[in-house]
Amino acid sequence: MNSQSNNVLQIIKPEPVIEGAGVRLKRSIATATLDHLDPFLLFDHFGSDNPDDYIKGFPMHPHRGIETVTYMISGVVSHKDSMGNSGRIHDGDVQWMTSGGGIMHEEMPLPCQQEMVGFQLWVNLPAGLKMTTPRYQNIASDQIPEIIRDDGVKIRVIAGEMDGVCGPVSDIFADPTYMDVSIPANGSFSYSVEQGDTVIAYVFEGEGVFDSGDLPKAETVSQPRLVVLSDTGFFEARATKRYVRFLLISGKPLNEPIARYGPFVMNTQDEIQQALEDLKNGTFVKN
Ligand code: FE2
Repeated sequence: MNSQSNNVLQIIKPEPVIEGAGVRLKRSIATATLDHLDPFLLFDHFGSDNPDDYIKGFPMHPHRGIETVTYMISGVVSHKDSMGNSGRIHDGDVQWMTSGGGIMHEEMPLPCQQEMVGFQLWVNLPAGLKMTTPRYQNIASDQIPEIIRDDGVKIRVIAGEMDGVCGPVSDIFADPTYMDVSIPANGSFSYSVEQGDTVIAYVFEGEGVFDSGDLPKAETVSQPRLVVLSDTGFFEARATKRYVRFLLISGKPLNEPIARYGPFVMNTQDEIQQALEDLKNGTFVKN
């Protein structure tokens, strides 16, 4: 079992960042330490019990060439976009937004009494889909299947498949897995990894051990941390005497050149220039 076990490649402590109109968040991909993890371009964790940390939100801004995935654990984000969509992302909901060739949107967290906790992941699009028509999948919490195993492990399946249960997010080029996994105290969870995939686990509650049980390098990871896993065989996560909750995310690398500038991620600098010109000329939104 050990020879096949998945190794932890890196454990990353998120960096404090101020983004949007003044939102304090914890960033673990798109930093000086880790620019990207193909096909993932950015990973932000917002979590605060002080509305001043998030209330200024992310007023109207553009995106091109990527997908943004917003998952709320608690709290509400109000949104609207240039496709005419508007609404609220509530506790447990997911918004999987494909910006394609161009979208303008705003994302405004609403003040809440309890702690506001959510995540945003950016997934890259391949060259052939960077200018595709924007698309938007809004998935309400009650559409996300939740598996509760006999051993008490809970898995919300947002994208990908677990125990024969498929997540509702579909037709995404990176063929992603996106799951919210809770392991009760002293419990464990293992997962078969598709060779070649990029696999990360983002620990946001409690603490766990990410490795095969008796490898000497296994170490306890306490929230908040991004754990980068290798693509060999499977990995096992175990809760300590506390519980652990983490997002398990995987995707297929694109292996394409990346040119990025703020909310635009293209293949070349010329394409970035084009995005800036389109924005200036009012031709950014095509659909
Ligand atoms: Fe955005």
